[in-house]
Amino acid sequence: MESVKKVLLVFGTRPEAIKMCPVVKALQQRTALRTSVCVTGQHRQMLRQVLDAFAVVPDWDLAIMRERQTLFDITAAALPAIRRVLEREAPDAVLVHGDTTTAFVTALACFYLQIPVGHVEAGLRTYDIRSPFPEEFNREAISLISRFHFAPTESSRGNLLREGHRPETVTVTGNTAIDALRTTVRADYTHPELQWAAGSRLVLLTAHRRENLGAPMRGMFRAIRRVAEEHPEIKIIYPVHKNPAVREAAGILAGHVRIHLIEPMDVLDFHNFMARSDLILTDSGGIQEEAPSLGVPVLVLRDTTERPEGIEAGTVRLAGTAEESVYREFCRLLTDDTAYEAMRRAANPYGDGHASERIADVLASALCGG
Ligand code: UD1
Ligand code: UDP
Repeated sequence: MESVKKVLLVFGTRPEAIKMCPVVKALQQRTALRTSVCVTGQHRQMLRQVLDAFAVVPDWDLAIMRERQTLFDITAAALPAIRRVLEREAPDAVLVHGDTTTAFVTALACFYLQIPVGHVEAGLRTYDIRSPFPEEFNREAISLISRFHFAPTESSRGNLLREGHRPETVTVTGNTAIDALRTTVRADYTHPELQWAAGSRLVLLTAHRRENLGAPMRGMFRAIRRVAEEHPEIKIIYPVHKNPAVREAAGILAGHVRIHLIEPMDVLDFHNFMARSDLILTDSGGIQEEAPSLGVPVLVLRDTTERPEGIEAGTVRLAGTAEESVYREFCRLLTDDTAYEAMRRAANPYGDGHASERIADVLASALCGG
């Protein structure tokens, strides 16, 4: 009889957790695999919210987060801590997600210990090493190390094949964000903040990207405040990321009667708010994946995106980061009904919500032979 094989999932931030919890659940269904979870704790409160929402209890918590951590802090704290976990667990394969420093450092530790890596959400690219920073480097480096590439779309698979990865190592699975979304959005959902916004056009805002911190973020927020002042028909809800540098900039939006700054939301709340929003402004990656299937227009507060699918589907548009371009694009969608309606169409370029099962199938077959 085949022996049970060990799979270890390592993640550390909110978006990785949202997209890896469905994979944890799918792997736990496979009796031929023993599944363990290690969180680096690159995020603390925002990670805890997700683990609680999906009832996932980590076997390891490396608790590395520090206030205002630098990339050096995360890398230097995570590398030896992950090494110890890998040496104790001796997994047959390790799964990492996306492009965070947690994912990169875990893949690097696996490379040093020659443990096979499976990369969930593989093949996203801008091919601009500075944007997003440091994520483009992280995901390209993880691809170099990975044995299994789980690409969310044909377009991401195409990137990997053009880079020379062997076709048999790349599987198109869909994005596990859609697996998560299937379990969170509810028709009977209510919340006091939604009642506050009832009767207005609801705009949901998030921002956190490292390359936007400082002047670009302040410019975006000035643009958004100007629009709020000129458009009494909108209300803006902004769950502010825990990063103190983001919170400082968010002061620009404080004290306005039509803008509510609130704490980061539980994923169940946030997905239901997204589903009821008229417009989303964000520099997030994950939100660009979730919004098309909800049919909610998204203005992306960035100059580039590694997620062309939402733009091709028509739901997502790049607004740039400069104050004037954010102001212009935001005003346009509030005043040009034709442009707005053209974006408000539901499309789902990211699969059928069964990505996690496909990942479990590939691993079970590769590690256990069936
Ligand atoms: C990280 C990822 C980014 C991902 C984002 C998702 C890296 C380099 N960056 O960026 O790719 O898009 O997460 O949100 O991997 N903080 C808290 N509590 C929390 C979380 C953060 O207080 O639960 C504060 C801390 O002061 C921390 C700071 O936020 O030092 C920044 O966190 P960090 O993970 O370094 O950067 P993010 O911008 O969150
Ligand atoms: N999200 C959440 N609560 C919030 C804001 C976002 O649960 O208050 C979810 C959102 O639905 C998406 C993910 O967090 O799944 C995106 O995380 P973030 O923007 O921090 O990171 P990115 O996707 O840019 O890496």
